[in-house]
Amino acid sequence: MKVFKIILLLSAIFCCTVTLAQSATSIEERNELIRARWNRSLVDNPSYTFNKEANNLLQQTAESVKPGKALCVAMGQGRNALYLARNGWDVTGFDLADKAVAYADNQAKVENVELTTEIASFETFDYGTEKWDLITWLYGGCLEIDGIAKKIKTALKPGGLFVFEFFHREAGIEMGRPDFGCEKNVIREMFTTEGGFEVLLYEEKEDVADYGMEKNKLIYMVVTKL
Ligand SMILES: C[S@@+](CC[C@H](N)C(=O)[O-])C[C@H]1O[C@@H](n2cnc3c(N)ncnc32)[C@H](O)[C@@H]1O
Repeated sequence: MKVFKIILLLSAIFCCTVTLAQSATSIEERNELIRARWNRSLVDNPSYTFNKEANNLLQQTAESVKPGKALCVAMGQGRNALYLARNGWDVTGFDLADKAVAYADNQAKVENVELTTEIASFETFDYGTEKWDLITWLYGGCLEIDGIAKKIKTALKPGGLFVFEFFHREAGIEMGRPDFGCEKNVIREMFTTEGGFEVLLYEEKEDVADYGMEKNKLIYMVVTKL
């Protein structure tokens, strides 16, 4: 009986170790796919269609407040980060796509503006505590990261702003990608359920998407930390 229990325990440890090793590898593999896909689209492929100007909702939001410290989550090739830096913001951005981040760094040098960048993922970046006046999450998916609303709340200064834009699930369905895009109300509910925010703007409407530059149903949100 004792031998049987030891065998059972050893097999449980073995299975657990294998599963952990597999999940570590799959996160690395996932990150590598993201890196390659977005380096290609944002830097290597000149015919990839996206708005190279800063996002409209970001411009409207940033123009309404005094410049401070901004974080651009999943900054891509830096169109939004560079816009903020040009307009007096102290900007940090991060992304997994190293070539895209290098493009932004180089552009900052050319334009003689300051930009702090990091190669990091949503999960590994240290968002900090009461550090940011503005956090942007533009075309970086549906915030499917454990505890992200809490992390954003902790990271924002009181009165700080969080700006979000992405495709609606209905757009995903129209594109033949039924898992793509954020479900109705889900992004807003993430923040209202977390609490400690005021929703300044929340819209689900058709407009030209920054990525693809076609009319799609999109989700727009701006919240402030109370
Ligand atoms: C559609 S682009 C948007 C880039 C930028 N925010 C903009 O509005 O131009 C999506 C970006 O998200 C980044 N990304 C996707 N998954 C990520 C993750 N898990 N961690 C960090 N960045 C990620 C990609 O590398 C890519 O640069």
